[in-house]
Amino acid sequence: MEESALFKLTQGLYILGSRDGDRFVGSAVDAVMQVSNKPLYIVVSCHNTSYTKEMLEACGEFSISILGENSNPFVIGNFGFQSSRTVDKWNNVPFFVEDNLPFLQESIAIIKGKVLSKEVLGTNTLFTAEVVDCRNLKEEGAITYNEYRNGYKNKVFKAMEEYRKTLVKK
Ligand SMILES: Cc1cc2nc3c(=O)[nH]c(=O)nc-3n(C[C@H](O)[C@H](O)[C@H](O)COP(=O)(O)O)c2cc1C
Repeated sequence: MEESALFKLTQGLYILGSRDGDRFVGSAVDAVMQVSNKPLYIVVSCHNTSYTKEMLEACGEFSISILGENSNPFVIGNFGFQSSRTVDKWNNVPFFVEDNLPFLQESIAIIKGKVLSKEVLGTNTLFTAEVVDCRNLKEEGAITYNEYRNGYKNKVFKAMEEYRKTLVKK
């Protein structure tokens, strides 16, 4: 099998937010898909080791911030290369709160989801959720996972290198 064929499935990049009591958590995800128009249902696939996944199970609510083509590369590194178990990721980026959920200030659109069911599928857990609210914030187009893989990723690595240097200095 040529598993790289699956990279040609078009996916976007999103910040999945939730909360652990009064602390916000979140991770970078690409596996989000709308699966029904009426009612509006989406699915989100979280790795079983993800702390955000545990908090989706615990609180049943989440935010999705859709990333634009001009996104700050640090955002993906911040949410995708470290865990909310040890880092307060939202303190590192501009964000706003609605309905006790965190949303990225620079996102192009936002979605609020309520978990309806979950199913463990191999390495991941698939959450089916109802869209309880959503809105556009910017005209900019969405970044794709393909763009991330083809070059953008290097900018993310660089941004994380710089970030880690600032941590060492502290
Ligand atoms: C580009 C990119 C896409 C990712 N897609 C997913 C995804 O769809 N689902 C997932 O659970 N993790 C995904 N990850 C990995 C998580 O963001 C990463 O494991 C994160 O550190 C989990 O943080 P947490 O423990 O705070 O939840 C992705 C990471 C990157 C960089």
